[in-house]
Amino acid sequence: MALLQLEDLHACYRTEVYGISRSVRAVDGVSLELYENEIYGIAGESSSGKTTLIKVLSGTLKPPLRVESGRVHYNFGSFAVDMLSIDPEELRQNVRWKQISYVMQGSMSVLNPVRKIMRTFEEIVRTHQGIPDKKSFVEQTRQHVQRLGLPPDVLDLYPHQLSGGMRQRVAIALATVFHPSLILADEPVSMVDASLRMAIVNLFKKLRDEQNVSVIYITHDLATAYYISDRIAIMLRGYVVESGPVEQVLDKPLHPYTQLLQESVPRPAVSERTQWARPIELGSTEVKEYSRVGCKYAGRCPHVMDVCKQADPPDVVVEGRTVKCYLYTNDAR
Ligand SMILES: Nc1ncnc2c1ncn2[C@@H]1O[C@H](COP(=O)(O)OP(=O)(O)OP(=O)(O)O)[C@@H](O)[C@H]1O
Ligand SMILES: [Mg+2]
Repeated sequence: MALLQLEDLHACYRTEVYGISRSVRAVDGVSLELYENEIYGIAGESSSGKTTLIKVLSGTLKPPLRVESGRVHYNFGSFAVDMLSIDPEELRQNVRWKQISYVMQGSMSVLNPVRKIMRTFEEIVRTHQGIPDKKSFVEQTRQHVQRLGLPPDVLDLYPHQLSGGMRQRVAIALATVFHPSLILADEPVSMVDASLRMAIVNLFKKLRDEQNVSVIYITHDLATAYYISDRIAIMLRGYVVESGPVEQVLDKPLHPYTQLLQESVPRPAVSERTQWARPIELGSTEVKEYSRVGCKYAGRCPHVMDVCKQADPPDVVVEGRTVKCYLYTNDAR
């Protein structure tokens, strides 16, 4: 059974500026299933809705973000959770940190700059579980970081004494202190030198292979996504335009948007390829695309047809992956 079943999620930001209200549907009908022991990559250009999706998956919902419809169902073996209707106290006590850990975009903020790393571990464990015996807590924490391949001495340092890559790995060690079933990692390698990226993504591999942890790995960096993901989804303006096994989607992309990126789709020599999508300045294009009727990519697509501008494209299963595109419907083929 799937660890996570996400069904037809629609989520939007409703804001009001000078009395004019604006609504951006940042997640527009996304469905996916995630299994135990699986790394699922989510990639897409800036403002495609990746962080919004992960906020909903982690139950971090506050205005102006609201879920309009959909279902977010977790099965943790011993208990199940419906994220959109869970009691906030239950979420805090039994789910956050213990079953689902969220490594936020720019996660350095989880580390307190004036406290040694061990103190941060202590605070988190004290708050969520309690520490009956300080000595065994210290010993277990040392073993925990060591198991993840980090030198236990990092615990005696302040965050500013660590490199960016090491801080990020510490943030992941912190996120896994209660052995959660799922890690939601939002751009964990974006602030880190290419040379250190592998150390971070290898940590996710290790967690998957040795502790059965599943990971949703959000990134702009297709090279690392290719390297560690089992499956991947490509997002564009709140849609998933293409999803499936990572080799299928990145080696033989079918959606014109994924194809546009093919130039820089990584080959097995992962280290040669570092950056995929350049940040794109969107402004009014962004707003227009979000509110576009029909396919969000129609304004940029070289294969655009009349039908693309009239209604949302269907999700079509082709060669083991799902593509949201009229090019692959029976009428077009
Ligand atoms: N707090 C907010 N209020 C209003 N709109 C927001 C808010 N946060 C995000 N948005 C809008 O929602 C859309 C999706 O944003 P989101 O942050 O989910 O994208 P992303 O794919 O994570 O981008 P990036 O790669 O830059 O992190 C964007 O159009 C963004 O402007
Ligand atoms: Mg983001």
